[in-house]
Amino acid sequence: MDVTKAIIPAAGLGTRFLPYTKAIPKEMLPLLNKPAIQYIIEEGLSAEINNFLVITGKNKDAIANHFDAHPELETFLKERNKSELMASTEKILRSTYFTYIRQSEPLGLGHAIWLARHAIGKEYFSIFLPDDIIISKVPAITQLIKIARQEKGSVIAVQEVSPDSVSSYGIVGIKKQITPNLFQVSHLVEKPHPKDAPSNLAIIGRYVLSSKIFTSLQDISGYAMGELQLTDAISHMMKNNEKVFAFKVQGVRYDIGTPIGWMKAVIGMALQDPYYAPHIKKFIASIDTPESFLYNSSKNIEHQL
Ligand code: UTP
Repeated sequence: MDVTKAIIPAAGLGTRFLPYTKAIPKEMLPLLNKPAIQYIIEEGLSAEINNFLVITGKNKDAIANHFDAHPELETFLKERNKSELMASTEKILRSTYFTYIRQSEPLGLGHAIWLARHAIGKEYFSIFLPDDIIISKVPAITQLIKIARQEKGSVIAVQEVSPDSVSSYGIVGIKKQITPNLFQVSHLVEKPHPKDAPSNLAIIGRYVLSSKIFTSLQDISGYAMGELQLTDAISHMMKNNEKVFAFKVQGVRYDIGTPIGWMKAVIGMALQDPYYAPHIKKFIASIDTPESFLYNSSKNIEHQL
């Protein structure tokens, strides 16, 4: 089973991050010195996925611009021996195909995926929700592809969540536990009340799915109320004999769809980075001391770094 294509649905309105998201896509939020979506592409490339179908909407042009050549800037940097500043994006440009598909109205995640149907053949493909940044030794999508090959079925990434959080996620029902981290799925429930949740395993933003999902999306679109849900289509696909597995991905997941989640990601990632970590650790250690800027409005933060 080769998985070489990824759909990245990025057409949501980002209401939890307004007003930032009014004109700027949240996929372009900075995480250290790169926009969030660059981490998603790099995760895909490390799993030999090089064909990205990005579902975009209004005000999302910055994403396509970021992954485009910029000859003037390249020449400018080359003349000053600073080409390494763009090395990571150059590498992406050399090895990646991007297709942008416009979703003219935010009709749901299922609808966004369905729009990419013409670009996917009869093959397994991946989905990356760009709100979820997963930092791990083995890239999260590589972990899922391995399971999809082993079990010859579709795989969803899951994470254990507390009972009071289940109502924010799609939750998986378990048919069979195969290993401590791998489950065969019986059904899916979208945002259940804690007492109706079939487990505490929440779906997070990585999937490897059979192309049968497009038939299911088509079949359920007729009776979908409001947004077309991907979870409903996955449940429908299971009824049509596609096996679906849930895998507890190993790694740290940051949900950058809210300001707090994004702040945690910036701090968490900075603390893991050899260049940024010493600066941030020193800054954090100095914050709650009587000498800090918190208690001395005249102090210049810059001098503490
Ligand atoms: P969310 O439900 O998180 O929505 O979508 P959102 O618009 O991004 O953010 P909020 O909730 O308004 O703050 C999950 C993923 O599905 C995409 C989003 O871009 C996000 O990556 N999506 C959602 C679409 O591409 N189209 C849609 O119609 C809905």
